[in-house]
Amino acid sequence: MKRLEGKIALVTGSSRGIGQQIAIGLAREGCDVIIHGRKKENTNKTKELLTEYGVKVDVVEGDLTQEQVIKDIVSYITSTYGKLDILYNNAAIQGKQKPIWEFTKEDFEHEFENNFYPLVRLCQAFAPMMQERGYGRIINLSSGIKNEPNLSPYGTSKAMVDKFTEDLAAALNGSGVLVNALDPGWLKTDLGGPHAWHEVESVLPGAIELALYDNDGPNGQWISAQDFHSK
Ligand SMILES: NC(=O)c1ccc[n+]([C@@H]2O[C@H](COP(=O)([O-])OP(=O)(O)OC[C@H]3O[C@@H](n4cnc5c(N)ncnc54)[C@H](OP(=O)(O)O)[C@@H]3O)[C@@H](O)[C@H]2O)c1
Repeated sequence: MKRLEGKIALVTGSSRGIGQQIAIGLAREGCDVIIHGRKKENTNKTKELLTEYGVKVDVVEGDLTQEQVIKDIVSYITSTYGKLDILYNNAAIQGKQKPIWEFTKEDFEHEFENNFYPLVRLCQAFAPMMQERGYGRIINLSSGIKNEPNLSPYGTSKAMVDKFTEDLAAALNGSGVLVNALDPGWLKTDLGGPHAWHEVESVLPGAIELALYDNDGPNGQWISAQDFHSK
């Protein structure tokens, strides 16, 4: 049985890596998917991979650090579909490693501008619409990173994601909109690198379980995709 038929999802950063897997997982459940990359052509592979599932696949593009790109994406989705059921805030970067003493204000700001503010903006745009309809699932990609001081701006940006997720969940409690943070595990992607513990495919099925929760399911929680393999 396909459990997300009739639903539409946006997955930011679904041109490759974890976002691509999330798009596949959603399509397998019958969900229509709006995929995204910095450039439309970056998403060609994902689009091709989704064809076998027979769902509607749409594409939006742009660098999410640009406020106008976010405005254009929100305006396109609302005018074309009139709703968004599921939002995966997946796009992020990981900056270069350095001794923690050497990170500049700009190093931190660069990670917050890529990993935190676009996520906040997209939540602020779509959560009120979801609340009005009494249904929505927002999944914010977090990280289990710890004891990695040489990646402090990245880790800090993910701690910000966790706190914002908790706060937004509290604001939406009981509305039918659930907001949770997903730790995908350390995965072999461009960001995770070749020495990561898990294959990228292992983010499934966990990543999709968060979209399948009933309205009384977890809200404001930090959930590990890898835990779903031992259940
Ligand atoms: N891999 C891991 O081990 C791991 C562990 C914990 C958490 N995570 C989190 O999981 C998520 C996905 O990571 P990943 O490993 O799949 O990364 P990835 O392979 O490097 O893919 C990153 C994706 O984000 C997009 N992106 C990055 N910055 C963007 C921006 N400013 N505007 C628009 N799109 C942007 C990229 O688009 P383009 O292709 O167009 O550049 C790409 O689709 C991230 O939030 C990451 O922090 C990953």
